[in-house]
Amino acid sequence: MNRFVLFCTVLFAFLAEANENKVCQACHPAIYAEYYQSSHRNASVYNNPIHKAMWEKYPKDEKGYTCAKCHSPSDVEALKSGVLTKNDTQMHEPISCIYCHTIQDVKEEENSNTNISSGKTREFYTAQSGKEGSVSFEKQSSLFGLSTSTKNSPFHKINYDNKNYYNGNVCMGCHSHTNNAHGIDITMLDAKIDEKDKNSCVSCHMPQVLGSKTTFDEGKTHAFHGMAGIHMERKKMAEYIDFKLSKNSNDFSISIINKSNHALFGQAYRQGVLKAEIKRGKKTIELEPFIFERKFAKDGKEVSPWEATEVSKDTLVYAKRDVIFNVALQGGDILTLTLGVKRISEEGAKELELKDSSEFTQFRVLKTQNFNF
Ligand code: HEC
Ligand code: HEC
Ligand code: HEC
Ligand code: HEC
Ligand code: HEC
Repeated sequence: MNRFVLFCTVLFAFLAEANENKVCQACHPAIYAEYYQSSHRNASVYNNPIHKAMWEKYPKDEKGYTCAKCHSPSDVEALKSGVLTKNDTQMHEPISCIYCHTIQDVKEEENSNTNISSGKTREFYTAQSGKEGSVSFEKQSSLFGLSTSTKNSPFHKINYDNKNYYNGNVCMGCHSHTNNAHGIDITMLDAKIDEKDKNSCVSCHMPQVLGSKTTFDEGKTHAFHGMAGIHMERKKMAEYIDFKLSKNSNDFSISIINKSNHALFGQAYRQGVLKAEIKRGKKTIELEPFIFERKFAKDGKEVSPWEATEVSKDTLVYAKRDVIFNVALQGGDILTLTLGVKRISEEGAKELELKDSSEFTQFRVLKTQNFNF
């Protein structure tokens, strides 16, 4: 029997029981392995302790678990009923391969956008310039049938024709904004997609990494499904952030230049931190770090993100932010700048009563650079 036919027969039998992603794993093992470590696989209450802690504090109403819309849309029951149950989808594929690859369009809405699915479970959207169009499996015989070669997937169709996959708009159903009941965006990204940009959500956060994209393909690289960001491939992110220094007689200022198309550190409780250290002869002078964050308030008093009616502090990095350190630099000084991010601030961890929070509040370095004087 032909290798493909055999393979597919086994697979289709298996399909009836296994979760959907397991099927993809058979032919896309590298991508599956990355996905499995990603925060998309870990987005559910059962896999992300911060999400769980926030959901427990969150005021409940008859709509139930509304977070499902973005954190576990593949759990169709939870999405429809708002009732959470610890099931395989929540554990292994809250945002599944099929979910992302069938987002046909994104409907822009006031409080949060909504993904429109094609509803097709055997035809997947993706992007590859030069390949626009929908393709099916092809088998070609040559040398009177002595050898065969194959093209595309025996399991599913591929649709290269959806422009949302080329410009990054496919991410915006979930990542654009999440407003609380008072219209305050608590996962603010403030992204602006411009077709003229050299980079997109996908090229920056899903860079090409080594390993072929399918078991049938000799190609050397594939799009990274672990998602480059706070957890993985952090050093790659440094490319998109620049430091520019200007020295004055009594102080110095650093411009943080953000080359992405969105604000940095906008998620509630997240913190960016800029550390500065001067080596002067035998002495090391540590300066007070600068914190990039948003704080939320109601009637002038600090409150949790979901109660907020206003933003009381906003020191995020949009296109650029200047930070001034009140120290005069001297000849011979070596200044070390380190920009990093805490997934959740110490205060946030306390507010959410997160136990064993040191892993979550850990300082994760994005970029470090020395300046000599
Ligand atoms: C029987 C093997 C097989 C299974 C199972 C399978 N695929 Fe594929 N898939 C392929 C092959 C082969 C290609 C074509 C790669 C190429 O063009 O070189 C492909 C291509 C793709 C592409 C487009 C890649 C490109 O060329 O840009 C996507 C997206 C994709 N698969 C998603 C999935 C998802 C999601 C699942 C699970 C629901 C899945 N596949 C299951 C074999 C499979
Ligand atoms: C409209 C989509 C959407 C909805 C609805 C939504 N979220 Fe999120 N949430 C996101 C996105 C996107 C991120 C990632 C943001 C980032 O990393 O900057 C996120 C991140 C988070 C984080 C940070 C997780 C971490 O590990 O750092 C928490 C906590 C969180 N959400 C809680 C909730 C809770 C609780 C609900 C329901 C009450 C909810 N979210 C509803 C889109 C949503
Ligand atoms: C179905 C909704 C959904 C879609 C579609 C989606 N995301 Fe996410 N994404 C999330 C949620 C929810 C989180 C936060 C999960 C958590 O930490 O609890 C997240 C987290 C992330 C993170 C943080 C990862 C980290 O570990 O640092 C990045 C980066 C990201 N997404 C990029 C993207 C990109 C790029 C796309 C488009 C290709 C995309 N996402 C599509 C819901 C989505
Ligand atoms: C958060 C959304 C999201 C999830 C979840 C997701 N993908 Fe993708 N995937 C994408 C995007 C966007 C691309 C297009 C990358 C590009 O343009 O290079 C892509 C590309 C691919 C490709 C082609 C790779 C290449 O380098 O051309 C394959 C194959 C694929 N995905 C399979 C899968 C499988 C299998 C899973 C589950 C294990 C999965 N995807 C989960 C968004 C997603
Ligand atoms: C030019 C590169 C670039 C582009 C384009 C880009 N990003 Fe980012 N993104 C970054 C950098 C750099 C960071 C900061 C590092 C960090 O926080 O992980 C970041 C942070 C994030 C975060 C927070 C993740 C985290 O780890 O806290 C999310 C979510 C995210 N980006 C999603 C997106 C989405 C969605 C798009 C498309 C609208 C996009 N990004 C476009 C470079 C980019």
